[in-house]
Amino acid sequence: GGYAPLMFRSVILAAAGSSRAERLVQSVPLSRSIVSRFVAGTGSDDALRVTRELVADGLAVTLDYLGEDTTTPAGAEAARDEYLRLLDGLAASELTPAAEVSVKLSALGQAFDEKLAEEHARLICAKASEAGTTVTLDMEDHTTTDSTLEMLARLRTDFPTVGVALQSYLRRTEADCRELATPGSRIRLCKGAYAEPESVAYQSRLDVDKSYVRCMNILMAGDGYPMIASHDPRIVTIAEDRSKWFDRGVDEFEFQMLYGVRPEEQLRLAREGYTVRVYVPYGTQWYGYLMRRLAERPANVAFFARALRSR
Ligand code: FDA
Repeated sequence: GGYAPLMFRSVILAAAGSSRAERLVQSVPLSRSIVSRFVAGTGSDDALRVTRELVADGLAVTLDYLGEDTTTPAGAEAARDEYLRLLDGLAASELTPAAEVSVKLSALGQAFDEKLAEEHARLICAKASEAGTTVTLDMEDHTTTDSTLEMLARLRTDFPTVGVALQSYLRRTEADCRELATPGSRIRLCKGAYAEPESVAYQSRLDVDKSYVRCMNILMAGDGYPMIASHDPRIVTIAEDRSKWFDRGVDEFEFQMLYGVRPEEQLRLAREGYTVRVYVPYGTQWYGYLMRRLAERPANVAFFARALRSR
């Protein structure tokens, strides 16, 4: 297993941005079953049902509405309203604080109007706080990192529990971890899922992993709340070790994994007493998300191809 070879990753990540490939994949009826392994469904009722199941199994949840790359104010507003509705639904079903939400600022219009995206994000944060839960900002490609961290800082003055994802493949991330490892600061450390140039990002699996461990050390030694988002067994083992070394109790950091990826490991860690948060995406715009998952793991593509053949 492991990091997909570079060539393979870039081909799949290119397909992630192709509307022709998207139409093709979405036209295949059987792709539904592959999709449903990684995506809760298309509507918030699906999201609530899957959340209920995961919470019953002792897992925590963060929900992601798949509406990235919004290009119009109407699209941004629709994404905002979906989050507001979702948070009402979670509160009404008593699924908070076990469930929180993950937000892509691009879905709220960051690409064409940062101020608008921030206003939308602010409303989502207010609703989350009313519902007794938190918001975590996803991190997207490197051209958005500064904008996202600036928005985070402004949102945190009113909503100090807003968290953010940082990506260990970026050369800047160690410094960002140092900056953000402060009391109350929720930092989700992941490897990073976009195709990034050598000038800003480590290219080899080894360098990305080494950076991950350096960043984890900074977060675990610091004063914030580290969220270790990885399925990598070595990373999970190192995180367990560091949490003991830095004397962090099971409520002073958490593990995070994606819905459908290593579900048995998610349950095992939860049984050990750790907080394990499952990242659950839902919505009709699942194509880009699915392609990033396929790019990570050739085995997932084989699985996909088999399903297409047996159609
Ligand atoms: P990696 O893909 O390097 O795999 C390492 C090892 O993990 C493999 O060798 C294998 O042993 C095991 N493994 C991985 N996948 C497996 C599978 N399907 N089945 C069995 N074993 C498997 N990215 C981003 O850019 N911005 C973001 O905001 C987020 N947010 C986010 C939240 C959460 C909760 C998670 C878990 C991930 C993200 N990501 C993300 C994605 C992240 O950057 C990364 O692309 C994936 O998590 C894959 O990297 P891993 O650390 O899991 O290991």
